[in-house]
Amino acid sequence: MSQTTRVRHLHGGPDAQGVPRWDFSTNANACGPCPVALAAVQQADAAHYPDPGYTDLRAALAAFHSVAIERIVVAGSASEFIARITAAVVRGGERRVWLPPLAYGDYAHAAQAWGLARVGDAAQADLAWLCEPSSPRGVVEAGAALVVGSPASAVVLDRAYEPLRLSGRCSLNGDALDQVWQLWSPNKALGLTGVRGAYAIAPLQGLALARRLEQLAPSWPLGAHAVAMLTAWVSPGVQDWLAQSRGQLARWKSTQLALLQGLGWHCLPSEANYFCAQAPRPVDVAALRAQGIKLRDTTSLGLPGHWRLGVLPPDAQEALADAWAAGLTSQGALAAHVGAVPLTIEEAQGRREAFES
Ligand SMILES: Cc1ncc(COP(=O)(O)O)c(C=O)c1O
Repeated sequence: MSQTTRVRHLHGGPDAQGVPRWDFSTNANACGPCPVALAAVQQADAAHYPDPGYTDLRAALAAFHSVAIERIVVAGSASEFIARITAAVVRGGERRVWLPPLAYGDYAHAAQAWGLARVGDAAQADLAWLCEPSSPRGVVEAGAALVVGSPASAVVLDRAYEPLRLSGRCSLNGDALDQVWQLWSPNKALGLTGVRGAYAIAPLQGLALARRLEQLAPSWPLGAHAVAMLTAWVSPGVQDWLAQSRGQLARWKSTQLALLQGLGWHCLPSEANYFCAQAPRPVDVAALRAQGIKLRDTTSLGLPGHWRLGVLPPDAQEALADAWAAGLTSQGALAAHVGAVPLTIEEAQGRREAFES
């Protein structure tokens, strides 16, 4: 009998134990769900197929971003787009991928599934990935402009967290943005991650690949609920709510940083509604989870010895502080263990390589 290996996608958020009460492991907007977008989703017409060409939705997205409608490619989710563009690149006969050292796991996952070779120099790649604000760090990608200038046939800038940017700005200017695939996934900003639906904006010179991507898509990649969410996304009411939520998140972020630093954590700078931190003593993941608290171990994102924490409201911060004060420690899991002395990013990556080899 043949045996199949189960593919593991490691993510923050709900798990086999359900939805964590205090979920620091997700980057979704903790002010959400956005009431107007949620109402739109709840009123979606689930009794009928959506327009298979998504004509109105694509026009609304194109107008929102001031681009030609031909440049809008809808996707079942950002994760689905990542898998599909990887497949399209391979189908075009291309074989090499470049990823940032720290990155969302699905880029590597798709590359591995399609047999792409990972190269260390973006100039050698056919497909290159960027993400700003990056995950897990929440910062700009070092050298992003060089990657855009590389001969890679497709450069994708994942902008999943751009709407949740609390400071700083994208490192690419308008001309550079026109040369990359911009991948947008508003469900995080809207606090509606259970609704699957995203879109990409093709580069000015990317229309041939856009058509190939559409050929590779199944019929109706977006259901009625995703159409409702993405249509609401571009409305002024939803964008106003989002702008206000960023103000709230920025205030919560400063108290959360102060709290953790006061508890001896070493927090790394970030420009988004999440940040990475090193704990001053081992973290007992299971004990925290039993109390409804979940953090994201960043090992699978390339950064061992750190945790990524989404910014949550004061009651969640208090719950974390109480659990920490109660002394939840463990001598267990290697991946969860961090020393009292903060690691540099380079040291952490060295540990990751040692851990993976
Ligand atoms: C950087 C990044 N890109 C894309 C995604 C996936 O987005 P979607 O929910 O649209 O699949 C995630 C989800 O965690 C992410 O962190």
